[in-house]
Amino acid sequence: MKFHLTKQPNKVDLTIAPCFLEEKLSEKLKLYGLSDEAIRLAAADFRAKPNELHLVYSPKFGRLLLLGTGERRELTPTALRNAMQSAIAAAKKFKPHSVQVLLTGLRSLQSSEYVEIIAFACLFANYSFNYYKQDQDKVTLDDLYLVGPPNSKAIQSSMERGGMIAAAANQARDLANHPANVATPSHLAKHALELAKKYRLRIKILNVDDMKKQGMGLLLGVSRGSDEPPKLIVIEYLPAGRQVGQPIVLIGKGLTFDSGGISIKPAERMEEMKYDMCGGATVLGILEAAAQLKLNLPLVGIIPSSENLLSGRATKPGDILSSMSGKNVEIINTDAEGRLILADAITYAKKYYKPRLIMDYATLTGAVIVALGDEFSGTFSNTNKYNQQLSKASQATGEKLWLMPLAQEYKDQLKSGVADLKNVGEKGVGGAITASLFLSYFVEETPWIHFDIAGTAWTMKNKSHMPAGATGWGVYHAIHFFQKLK
Ligand code: BES
Ligand code: ZN
Ligand code: ZN
Repeated sequence: MKFHLTKQPNKVDLTIAPCFLEEKLSEKLKLYGLSDEAIRLAAADFRAKPNELHLVYSPKFGRLLLLGTGERRELTPTALRNAMQSAIAAAKKFKPHSVQVLLTGLRSLQSSEYVEIIAFACLFANYSFNYYKQDQDKVTLDDLYLVGPPNSKAIQSSMERGGMIAAAANQARDLANHPANVATPSHLAKHALELAKKYRLRIKILNVDDMKKQGMGLLLGVSRGSDEPPKLIVIEYLPAGRQVGQPIVLIGKGLTFDSGGISIKPAERMEEMKYDMCGGATVLGILEAAAQLKLNLPLVGIIPSSENLLSGRATKPGDILSSMSGKNVEIINTDAEGRLILADAITYAKKYYKPRLIMDYATLTGAVIVALGDEFSGTFSNTNKYNQQLSKASQATGEKLWLMPLAQEYKDQLKSGVADLKNVGEKGVGGAITASLFLSYFVEETPWIHFDIAGTAWTMKNKSHMPAGATGWGVYHAIHFFQKLK
């Protein structure tokens, strides 16, 4: 999809007109050439409530999709993102090749900030996953026009930024949406290699022998039950002329299928566990966006990737695995595997880089869904230094999160009678917290932010603003978060 910035409306297949509640709809529609009767009916049927959609036919524009954006003073970037995504999703029904968004006269929507999020939302909503459907639609939305904002360099670059970030988020969604028989650890590694080649990033893929040399007993223990070889992907983004120095290290859980292992999960909804690599996909998406935007910040992505299956070789409850850090872990439940593979990745990050900050993305616990549902990621950190920035980036991008306590009070839940640690706490007692605490034993003093994206990484419901499938949660948020880092 190509973006265009124009002063005047264009001849397109469909026009989207955002409308605020306090606007005089009849005057606006008169300008668009609608008859008095058509205006009367539209005014009766459409209130401009947030996300409300109403199609009218205008002599001037043809298909004209009115999009409610609520009260002007209540508009937020999140609300605008959702509204635009709903509008593009609805527009798809008409199979348009070209769409324009009429921002003429809507000064409050013409800022750089809003232009970026509109562009993001349009490209994000234009995504569809159809590799496996023979009767897939061949019609593509090729051109998107933003009509009205000043044709300045700043606006132009905001529009391009929004598009680039959405393209990276869509890549992450695509990677995650593939089924687990396709998206194996080797597939993830191959995708990472392609990414590295495209953007000239340094990359290293550790295989089983390398993991043995490093003593990564946790990652190896999780992968034992599977025939697919595990991979540890290490990929560096360095701004031109910069050394890696003290990078931000992004770690993503790349568990390509989580059956639970010997502590097997119930059959119901187990197919969703192909999404257990969404954290890894997010990290690759963030690196791609950073490379596209030429972000001025060294980043390292580390993705431990494995399946969690059962076989005669699989790790069993009661087994003790020794981690790269030297700590021995008693496995109580083989389904608490994410924290294990992350722990070895964290130790690797600390040994080979001196991270100024570690950020990890993981579909880690069902407990975080109980706590926060499917709209908010649970965020845990061993420092409060970034709290404000985390929230601000969240508000700017519509990727919602909630700060959760890394409650030291529960640390004892992870004490084992026979090893240094056990891999689960008490059942039903702060599961998302104890999972984070487990990670914190390996992170130690390094500044660290953990995102539990189990609720937000994918959705099975088709929402008006978000179709079923992977959501790419974290890509847009991270880019905004980085912008404010010095
Ligand atoms: N991948 C799951 C977490 C998950 C569950 C994500 C449901 C999304 C939806 C993780 O590996 C897991 O199984 N966690 C267990 C931990 C428990 C055994 C302590 C869980 O949350 O039930
Ligand atoms: Zn699990
Ligand atoms: Zn898992």
